[in-house]
Amino acid sequence: MDSLRGKTIYEALGGPEGIRSLVEAFYPKVQQEPLLGPLFPEDITPVIEKQYLFLSQFFGGPPLYSEQYGHPMMRARHMPFPVTVERAEAWLGCMSRALAETVSDPELRAAVLERLKGPAYHFINS
Ligand code: HEM
Repeated sequence: MDSLRGKTIYEALGGPEGIRSLVEAFYPKVQQEPLLGPLFPEDITPVIEKQYLFLSQFFGGPPLYSEQYGHPMMRARHMPFPVTVERAEAWLGCMSRALAETVSDPELRAAVLERLKGPAYHFINS
């Protein structure tokens, strides 16, 4: 991707600190989103941690998620939850707002969102 100038998204976001601030901005929005909040446990901390591990790996950083939890199989891991097209779009909307708060480069924000769109729609199961 040209806007990344050969960097991984992980590097462009600023490595561990960047991923951390993104997921910490994201989950409070998920919790407040009526379509999404009720699917998640009240204590969101373990979910933030897993997403930190997963996105580090997904965006080209170290394979932290697989080291702890094995093959991601993310669609399968979402099967217990009814993921509808409305929920996929709400999820991406929360991510878009979290990016607006934590990432200043608009091209990088667009690249991140684009990379997440595929999996979000792929996880639709209801
Ligand atoms: C499409 C809309 C989505 C919905 C409604 C959704 C919902 C959920 C829910 C309810 C959980 C379980 C939380 C828990 O009880 O522990 C979860 C876990 C998770 N989600 Fe999603 N999710 C969506 C999209 C995504 C996307 C696009 C990604 C990343 C590409 C993602 C990554 C994860 C990860 C890493 C976990 C933790 C998996 C584990 O337990 O190890 N999700 N999601």
